[in-house]
Amino acid sequence: MTTSSAPGKIILFGEHAVVYGHPALAVPVTQVQATATVRASTGPGTWVEAPDIGLRSELSVLPAHHPLVTALNGVFTTLGISSHSPFTINISSTIPVASGLGSGAAVSVAMIRALSAFLGQSLSDEEVSALAYDVEKLHHGTPSGIDNTVIAYSQPVFFIKGQPIATFHVGAPFTLVIGDTGVSAPTKESVGDVRKLWEAEKTRTEKIFREIGKIAIQARERIVNGEWDKLGALMDANHALLQALTVSSADLDRLVDAARRSGALGAKMSGGGRGGNMIALVEKENAPAVAEALKSAGAKRTIVTQVG
Ligand code: PMV
Repeated sequence: MTTSSAPGKIILFGEHAVVYGHPALAVPVTQVQATATVRASTGPGTWVEAPDIGLRSELSVLPAHHPLVTALNGVFTTLGISSHSPFTINISSTIPVASGLGSGAAVSVAMIRALSAFLGQSLSDEEVSALAYDVEKLHHGTPSGIDNTVIAYSQPVFFIKGQPIATFHVGAPFTLVIGDTGVSAPTKESVGDVRKLWEAEKTRTEKIFREIGKIAIQARERIVNGEWDKLGALMDANHALLQALTVSSADLDRLVDAARRSGALGAKMSGGGRGGNMIALVEKENAPAVAEALKSAGAKRTIVTQVG
């Protein structure tokens, strides 16, 4: 039997602009996890079980473009395996879906690692990330690759699409409160709408992307130097630019305002937007008060996480 777990992730800065080649920062969130376990089957056939989504099916009858099948087939292809003894893979996750916490990429990474270990040939982080990226394409259409990268490497990542992975050092740890609107919003839709905006108003939209990219670069410098208390203003500025891209929502804005009013140093939506999660930078001792304020403003759940 082999088991593998992968963390969730949160984008600190740079979402959406990252799809157009600008930098973004993301960190793993270990409080939530996807887990995959592979066991040799006792009976005939290879089975895929994901009780969270009510799935129990023989692998051979699932469609080839199913995300879970794509993840498994990617492992077989990469390892050059055309036949294997029957197994059952069980998948579970505590990461809320379609909420900007990287649930799809985490499930892929956990499955890919558990299966390759079961087959006796572990894959490198780079290979795992590349295979999870193929699955991300089914979820997102044109993903930047940031989710699979930060989750496969499980380290803070300064990500530029198409460039080699760059991790970064967190000079001094800082605390975030993550607030979930409870609204599940497919990233594919918000990414598609930003594309329409970009097609209709290229000059204005590209200026916004550039400003977001500059914020991500400044933020990395602050984080590396341990000046995390200066990140709040950058978060606020990034949120305003995401509003201009039309990817925030009334729910997200309400949570962002509530966080700021309860003493957060800054706040922004995170991920695809229109729903999902927002993040607030807080002094550690103020985290419970901000989490409480988010709940009062309608957050369905909050997670307090330490970065670094
Ligand atoms: O919704 P999430 O957390 O999976 O993040 C999507 C991030 C985008 O920049 C909007 C899209 C992408 O592929 O990078």
